[in-house]
Formats: sequence, structure tokens, C-alpha cells
Amino acid sequence: MIVKIFDDERQASHAAYKIVRQAHENGAKVFGWATGATPELLYEELVNSDIDFSDSISVNLDEYFGLDEQHDQSYHAYMEEHLFDEKPFKASYLPHGDNMDVDDEIARYNQILEDNPVDLQILGIGRNGHIGFNEPGSNFNTRTQLVDLTETTIEDNQRFFEDKSEVPTKAYSMGIQSIMEAKAILLLAFGKGKAEAVKAMIEGPVTENLPASILQKHPRVMIILDKAAASLLQTKSTEPEANRA
Ligand code: PGA
Repeated sequence: MIVKIFDDERQASHAAYKIVRQAHENGAKVFGWATGATPELLYEELVNSDIDFSDSISVNLDEYFGLDEQHDQSYHAYMEEHLFDEKPFKASYLPHGDNMDVDDEIARYNQILEDNPVDLQILGIGRNGHIGFNEPGSNFNTRTQLVDLTETTIEDNQRFFEDKSEVPTKAYSMGIQSIMEAKAILLLAFGKGKAEAVKAMIEGPVTENLPASILQKHPRVMIILDKAAASLLQTKSTEPEANRA
């Protein structure tokens, strides 16, 4: 794992942007995107850049179960708003949250992932250490699955909905194994609220209780943090100061 720490979220997001850009220039074709607050500045920079993704494919980590694409809190809507409206891809895939035939949706998304191996996967991390919507206790050997969201995740997502009762309690998510099959992974985490999960991911044991800890086993992972998210780490950075800009 390479860990890089930046003064603030904007600088960290700029570094992430440069990595995505470099990957694109180096021929990466399939980008795995994440949703949530964390990658918003990265997407802003991508939108404001001259990168042309019209030959690229995108696959997303997850989608709420029960929301159709048009719902303003669906991850489809998020991706349209933050990236795809301005930067169209040749094809962009997300799970279909409104497909109530769970086996069918899982098979469909697994096939998409098999046909489009991810070159660079962007990840956030939940306060509870989840990646995608793979909550603590998720089996490491899973592909796409329908997951029950934990109370912490439902609480964290509540800010985007008018009422807690509207927050979906299930989601389709790429499984841990699918995430680990990406050729390279770039995980971003910002803010004090992520510090404990970040510490456990980097310095703790590899355990299904902290799903992100599996990333210690991936050969090409970069973790980009702001100071607050890195505040509990023993070893502060694996890169010299000069490389952090
Ligand atoms: P956030 O979510 O970016 O909204 O903090 C990250 C995650 O849950 O993976």
C-alpha cells in the first residue's frame, strides 16, 4: 500500500485527479467509480479538465436497492450530476436498483464486470470500514451481492434524504472479490470521522470485520488522505514529502 497524506481535501483530490489522468493517458480503459461525498472534488476536477472519456467504460460500485435511476438520490443520478452529464463515457454501468429479480441483477452485473475488467477502481471508505456497500462481516469471496446496510451506514446516508424512513436499507454492491480484481485501486478518505477506519485498514489485521483491510493484500493500492483522516496513523506517509504535491 502506498499512503499519501495531504493538508486538506482539495490538495488530496487534486493528487487523485492526477492519478486518474495519468491512468487515462497510459491507456486505462475501464474506470470503477464510487459515489458519496468523498470523490466529489475529484469529479469536479475531471469535469473541468480536457480529458476525453468517450472511448472509456465506467462501472460503479453500487446502487441502492429499490430506487429507480430517476430517483434524485439514486447513484445513477449522482453520477449523471457529478460526472457523466459533462464527461460522457462510451458505456457507463451501474447496478439496476429497481431490478427486483435479485438473481437476474447479480448475474447481469457480474457479466458486465467480467466483460470489462477494471483498470483503476476509485474507493471511499465507510466509518465502519466498508468498501462499496460491503459491510463488516462481508465474506471476502463475494462478487455482486444484495446487501443489508448497517445502522451506521443508514445513519450516514440519512443526510441525503428528507426522512430516515426514506433511506434504502439494502443495496446492490460489487463484492470484495470483484473490487480486488481491479488492476489498481485508489482509495480516498477525508475527515476525522474516517480516522479510525483508516487506521484499522492500514495498520490493523486483515479481517472481514473491517472489509477495507483486505486492501493490504492487493498489489497496487494507493491511499490518499487528508491530515484529519490520517491523524491516528502511527506511520504517517510512505512517500517523501516532496512527492506529495
Ligand atoms: P462518503 O462515503 O464519501 O459519503 O463519506 C464513503 C463510503 O461510504 O464509502
